[in-house]
Amino acid sequence: MKKLSWYYKKALYYIKKKIDLDNYSIETNNLDYLFNHFGSDKGTLIKHPYDKKKEKIIGHSFGQFYEKYFNEFKNEKFDLLEIGAWKGASIAAFSKYFENANIFGLDKNFKFEYKSKKITFLNCDTTNIKDLKKIEKKIKNIRFRIIIDDGSHFLSDIIHNLKFFFKFLDNGGLYIIEDYKHPEYYSTLNDTKNELFISQIVEKLKKKELFKSEVLNESDQKTLMRNIDSIFIHKGIMKDKKTDNNVSDIVFFKKKLI
Ligand SMILES: C[S@@+](CC[C@H](N)C(=O)[O-])C[C@H]1O[C@@H](n2cnc3c(N)ncnc32)[C@H](O)[C@@H]1O
Repeated sequence: MKKLSWYYKKALYYIKKKIDLDNYSIETNNLDYLFNHFGSDKGTLIKHPYDKKKEKIIGHSFGQFYEKYFNEFKNEKFDLLEIGAWKGASIAAFSKYFENANIFGLDKNFKFEYKSKKITFLNCDTTNIKDLKKIEKKIKNIRFRIIIDDGSHFLSDIIHNLKFFFKFLDNGGLYIIEDYKHPEYYSTLNDTKNELFISQIVEKLKKKELFKSEVLNESDQKTLMRNIDSIFIHKGIMKDKKTDNNVSDIVFFKKKLI
């Protein structure tokens, strides 16, 4: 039954009319403007994602950090992967910001609303080994300049994604985890008993200290330590409605050039 509904969703996805970004003109190439325009919570002020009649909501304001690290190579030809593409708001924004990049959006759902020669949608549940094997075949020859994890934000998923996808990052590339502290703020996202939080893993990687993990074995940890050149962390502006605490955190792992 589950399988049937997957085929049904996939069929619906292929026949659904998409927004054609190749014939969609938009004047600015400022990332924050683009995130706001397409409705990604990476922006500063966006349409309410679920209810368009509701007033605008404050986003993370991650555009300023992305501009800081992306601007120098924005006109180059490279590959970008976002894990957790949802309807494609940020993928659409990146496709308009990066003139010459190939943009890959990966999601377990078929909500993706856009089409373009530059965009490839990959259906994959990153918790499903068969799905990962299929994806591995599709991307085995690609080394991404940018990989962004904006998926489930469950701690186990974030760590598994880092283990699986880091090998597809190009030398000098950036592996980015959005909302990496959500498992610290929201206990429901802290779904593992024996893993460190990402902020603790960041400290261990910086100090090159091995740590206990059931996902990242010694060899994975050594690979990360050997390959990570620098780590940048930033805070955005989104607040939790109930607690009023700032819950916007983003980490950039820059891979060594060689
Ligand atoms: C926060 S939304 C992404 C928003 C999007 N990046 C944007 O800026 O508009 C998170 C997405 O992650 C996807 N997701 C959650 N768990 C996943 C998994 N295990 N594998 C693949 N995608 C997953 C969800 O389906 C959802 O579309």
